[in-house]
Amino acid sequence: PAAEVPGGRRFGFVLVTNRIPVHAHTTGNGVRSTCSAGLDQVFRDLVLQRQGVWVGWSRRDEEANGFEQTGGPPLMTVALTGREVEWHQEGQCSSTLWPLYHDAIERPEFRRAWRDAYRVVNERYADAVDRVAASGAAVWIHDYQLQLVPALVRERRPDLRIGFFLHIPLPPPELFTQLPGREEVLRGLLGADVVGFQRPRSVQNFVRLCADVLGLPVSDGSVDVGGRTVDVRAYPVSIDVGAIEGLVGQSRTRRRAQQIRAELGNPDVLVAGIDRLDYTKGIEQRLVAYGEILDGMRSVANPPVFVQVATLSRERVARYASLRERVDRLAGHLNGSYGRMGSPAVRYTNSALDFHEVAALYRAADVMVATPFRDGMNLVAKEYVASRLDDRGVLVLSEFAGSAAELPEAILVNPNDTDDLKDAILRAIAMRPAEQSRRMKAMRSRVRAHDSHAWITSVMADLDRAVRPV
Ligand code: G6P
Repeated sequence: PAAEVPGGRRFGFVLVTNRIPVHAHTTGNGVRSTCSAGLDQVFRDLVLQRQGVWVGWSRRDEEANGFEQTGGPPLMTVALTGREVEWHQEGQCSSTLWPLYHDAIERPEFRRAWRDAYRVVNERYADAVDRVAASGAAVWIHDYQLQLVPALVRERRPDLRIGFFLHIPLPPPELFTQLPGREEVLRGLLGADVVGFQRPRSVQNFVRLCADVLGLPVSDGSVDVGGRTVDVRAYPVSIDVGAIEGLVGQSRTRRRAQQIRAELGNPDVLVAGIDRLDYTKGIEQRLVAYGEILDGMRSVANPPVFVQVATLSRERVARYASLRERVDRLAGHLNGSYGRMGSPAVRYTNSALDFHEVAALYRAADVMVATPFRDGMNLVAKEYVASRLDDRGVLVLSEFAGSAAELPEAILVNPNDTDDLKDAILRAIAMRPAEQSRRMKAMRSRVRAHDSHAWITSVMADLDRAVRPV
């Protein structure tokens, strides 16, 4: 059962995410749960500012008892059983939807029990929203774990304004239509007044699917369903540039950045990659390309050092475990072949770094490599750019990351092409300061102009404008 709401409190704004950052690692600079700054802090600020409530699941069962947090916004925990976690999270979310929505890079698995659990869990979230939402409240629901929630909330509470945002790509109809229960997912999303995606391509895919699969009347940015018009728009997600600049500019971050370089033997060039350990991120291919670069540099006195942070993720899912083994082996192989005493070829870690450490690494890295095969946005790329207060540094970015559209001055690569990856990293290593600065300036000013505040403002404006049914 969902948690009881103490005192029957109700709120004019409800944020709904799969998880709430109840037991995220806390530092003096806020709360983090993953390797990038992520959106936890942005969401906290939003919920506090709107005097709302944040609904989601937390891994710690004993915390499933309603509102908590001192200083943070009220959180309402949705309770899930172990079986539900297994079938909804690890099954339907991580093993069906995640690979399918990322171009089926790994083959999606389809199981009826997972699909059923997905529905049951989505209902549980909708019940929780029903309990905490005041009359006429705005509700903002997030990501692929909760795609049925908009329609389930509308069934229960036609008085609410409902927004949905998908953080990962919506694949083209040729892939999406493989999904058993595809109609149910589309209808689930159409329960919202505003459906948001990262990129215009996902908007087009969704609108086409509504026409082809459901036979609904559509236009470029809207779908008509049951006498309502659903707005469909791209809202590229972004980062809190001010917060990152503040942290990166601190003298302790500068000191830590120097220390990181010293610990690695003060290489002339420090190359870094920061990712969740996920097969969509292209980590193996990146290391292979880097190995070939090192092979060509055997006679160089002070070769570059590569720091790869690959934070463990979804460890109970077999494909993630086997990826870990492969990447471990590869990193070990590179060090065995090219490392020297006191300076490794690759410094590889699976830890989740706190954000201060990530900021220091952004500051220390001359080159940042973000080369996913497919990525909704890739906030590491934007964070790196925001961190380069001196306008130096080079970003090597996959053309298949959503952020590539906003960061065309990066060296864009096709991560499937080892030669292209190699060339890109070599060009980055050799890029002259004036060229670095020209590119970085352009990217920084774009990221600053379109930060997380701008993102929130545009989504919220559309959600507040949504016509509330009477
Ligand atoms: C992506 C998804 C998020 C998800 C995160 C971590 O960024 O868009 O919704 O929370 O990965 O994955 P996990 O399975 O650990 O929640």
